[in-house]
Amino acid sequence: MDSIIDPRALFTLNYGVYIVSTEYQGRKNGQIINALMQLTADPICMAACLHRDNFTTELVEKSGRFTVSVLEESVPLQFIGQFGFRCGRDFDKFSACAFETGEDGLPFVTEHALACMELEVISVQEIFTHKLFTARVLSAKVLKEGVPLTYANYHFIKKGKSPANAPTAVFNKIK
Ligand SMILES: Cc1cc2nc3c(=O)[nH]c(=O)nc-3n(C[C@H](O)[C@H](O)[C@H](O)COP(=O)(O)O)c2cc1C
Repeated sequence: MDSIIDPRALFTLNYGVYIVSTEYQGRKNGQIINALMQLTADPICMAACLHRDNFTTELVEKSGRFTVSVLEESVPLQFIGQFGFRCGRDFDKFSACAFETGEDGLPFVTEHALACMELEVISVQEIFTHKLFTARVLSAKVLKEGVPLTYANYHFIKKGKSPANAPTAVFNKIK
């Protein structure tokens, strides 16, 4: 079956690059995600797919809430690295970045971010290695005008890699 899946076909799918953040019992954390999309308009719901081993996943499941920050195209690779290649279990990611606290008390990254939203989890489904969170948007605001970073430009312009826990990690092998 695997032999008939050409990963280059999957690479033609479009995504953005975001930070999903949350807080549980005073512990803030966040991670980079590309597997995120809007599902419905009324009410506005979204889906986010997080690896089951990630610290963010554990905290989102416990808190039942998370925020999304939409990253701008000019975001430095090093900034993405802090949220996308390091685990928050042994490093306080929020000690080294600008953030604000939403109405629900959750942190959202404001540095290199164009917009942010707060969400409430409505379901969690196990998808093999990942957990799929569907969530309802509680608030959303624009932080500044700019060009959002696409996943394609993260790879083609910024020459970024995907870590093992990203659903799209296979793309590292075909570039
Ligand atoms: C460009 C990019 C896209 C990523 N997309 C996802 C994703 O969609 N889902 C996921 O679980 N991890 C994704 N990751 C990996 C996580 O951000 C990474 O495993 C992170 O270190 C987890 O941190 P945590 O353990 O503190 O939660 C991505 C990373 C990068 C750099």
